Amino acid sequence: MLDLHDYVASIPNFPEEGVTFRDITPLLADGAAYAEATRQITEFAKERGVNVIVGPESRGFLVGAPVAHQMGIGLVPARKPGKLPREVISQSYKLEYGEATLELHKDAIKPGDKVLITDDLLATGGTIEATIKLVEALGGEVVGLAFLIELNALHGRDRLNGYELLALMNY
Ligand code: PRP
Ligand code: ADE
Repeated sequence: MLDLHDYVASIPNFPEEGVTFRDITPLLADGAAYAEATRQITEFAKERGVNVIVGPESRGFLVGAPVAHQMGIGLVPARKPGKLPREVISQSYKLEYGEATLELHKDAIKPGDKVLITDDLLATGGTIEATIKLVEALGGEVVGLAFLIELNALHGRDRLNGYELLALMNY
């Protein structure tokens, strides 16, 4: 059976000393591995009655788009500041160093939407926590969070208590 771990490259000391970067580009480049990963997330989404996918820029798009396509539902990109052309709501969050912001178009989520948030990787959970706040501010219900990879040592999951969480691989 296909083991998704075989399609993740681990790069020591990138982008800085002490960080092991988990590179998903081999998985994306392999049709069977990419299809299997997104199939598993699609199954999780179907079980939860999801009707829209939200993915944070940029690697969240790479996971969310194929899942949305497989399900025949829409994809909403949560984007970095200044990229969305119409009225937005914004949420800032902490990175290891400094701050970042994500935005959604105000009309991107309808009250009562059942939302799956996707990303390639859960580290501290800051990105996903900000994305959850944006979706909920617009009246969406976050019914699941799905990742290719969870970095256990960073305990992102602890910030996301109360949400259904799927991680296909743990490091
Ligand atoms: C990476 C990754 C997640 C986030 C995880 O994105 O794709 O979105 O970091 O970290 P966190 O759980 O500590 O928030 P990055 O901000 O590097 O942007 P990118 O997807 O554009 O590379
Ligand atoms: N984003 C945050 N931490 C990361 C890591 N260790 N590898 C890949 N992407 C990341």
